[in-house]
Amino acid sequence: MYKRIIPIVLSVVLLAPGYSFAVHPDVHSWSNEEIALIRSLWLGSLHPLPDDPSNAYDTDTQAIAFGKKLFADSRLSANGKVSCATCHIPDKTFTDNLPVAHGMDDTTRRSMPLAGMAYSPWLFWDGRTDSLWAQALGPIESPVEHGISRTKCVIIISNHYQQEYEQIFGPIPELDKTYKETARPAPDNPEIQSQWEAVSVEDRKAITLLYANIGKAIAAFVRTIVHEASPFDEYAEALFNGDIDRAKTVLTADQAFGLKLFISKAKCINCHNGPLFTNNDFHNVGVPARKGYDPDMGRAEGINLVQANEFNCLGRLSDAGPDDCAELKYIDTDTEKYHGAFKTPSLRNVADRPPYMHAGQLKNLHEVLKFYQNEARKRSAPGNNGFGTDIVHGDITDEDIDYLIAFLRTLSGPIKSY
Ligand code: HEC
Ligand code: HEC
Repeated sequence: MYKRIIPIVLSVVLLAPGYSFAVHPDVHSWSNEEIALIRSLWLGSLHPLPDDPSNAYDTDTQAIAFGKKLFADSRLSANGKVSCATCHIPDKTFTDNLPVAHGMDDTTRRSMPLAGMAYSPWLFWDGRTDSLWAQALGPIESPVEHGISRTKCVIIISNHYQQEYEQIFGPIPELDKTYKETARPAPDNPEIQSQWEAVSVEDRKAITLLYANIGKAIAAFVRTIVHEASPFDEYAEALFNGDIDRAKTVLTADQAFGLKLFISKAKCINCHNGPLFTNNDFHNVGVPARKGYDPDMGRAEGINLVQANEFNCLGRLSDAGPDDCAELKYIDTDTEKYHGAFKTPSLRNVADRPPYMHAGQLKNLHEVLKFYQNEARKRSAPGNNGFGTDIVHGDITDEDIDYLIAFLRTLSGPIKSY
């Protein structure tokens, strides 16, 4: 008899509005340690926008304005329809809400949001580039994204942006008429590779210099895309000012309890830490490959790719000095450790941009939290000694999931750009 009544009474209490005031009466009072953790997540703790030493143009206002135009210019694509903004839509937190991105063709990963990227030492899910300008040059020559060549870029820039380019970077190279528009370095495509080898060594250098420069202009624009304060940040500020009455008007008790879980029992803060809610590192949290896709090695491959990237911080076209590039010089090359590991995504504005994970494997935040719950349970299951992902938190209950989601929704604020 009691067995049947208790759940009914409990669910009435739990479903009543504001119930968690009753369940967690002092949820808005925090210990000093907790306040310190909240401060570490607060947007106000973010240091000023860093300059990229490998890009001499990244604070140049002309380069920023030029980069903004290039970002949205679909003439920089094989079918005249794809620009950076196709997959990084400004009104959709600079992403596209698709499970895997689609440019000239389907890609194998999800488009990533762009706010706060200037703070990120590694770009892409596998971190295969180490600067925003090196990153921008990837999609342009990728056959499934923009699908054009650096040689074609020279033609497009001289037809449409000659003055603008030359004011910032100097003369555009004149190309021999016999060069193929599709010529680019392409070790896995012998025909395209031979077109590139038919270009004189001097012109290959001049073409690649122009290509690097347009990457630097696009990067100067991308660097300006930043987050502004979210309800969580307003709540934190109210707490720092000792204004609990105001704090209570910004976050509900459920949301505040979700924050408590996030920084304590659920251990989300182990990886989603700092004001951008990311440790900028790579972890294998155990997300299975997307149905029908090959397993993705993630960072294990990214480590080699970034070291081999011709546009990296130590490369010929980098503007970095001898004391820069510490990240790349001291890169952790333990590929074993990073097998199936992906970049920890920022959780700012996360509720605005389903689906989730590197190939959009999970449809909504509920699926993400169910996934974490399940991983932790698999880990603690009896007899499980070989199970090795980077997830270490204890059990998350179904109620915890609701609180955590309520908290994640408080991380959405405006996104600003040049
Ligand atoms: C076809 C869709 C598509 C186009 C076009 C595209 N991107 Fe992306 N973008 C993606 C995908 C997918 C990823 C993740 C790819 C990966 O990890 O392999 C990504 C990743 C990024 C990242 C890394 C973010 C992070 O958190 O590390 C940046 C920055 C970025 N893109 C900027 C750009 C710029 C600038 C352009 C134009 C030159 C561009 N993208 C064109 C889909 C696209
Ligand atoms: C061991 C480090 C680690 C811990 C702990 C961790 N995460 Fe993550 N989180 C990641 C990584 C890495 C990804 C991307 C994984 C992938 O795509 O394969 C991710 C993805 C996510 C995403 C999807 C974001 C997106 O843009 O796709 C959400 C939401 C998220 N985590 C929330 C949480 C919450 C809530 C917790 C605590 C219960 C948590 N995470 C604990 C590392 C971690």
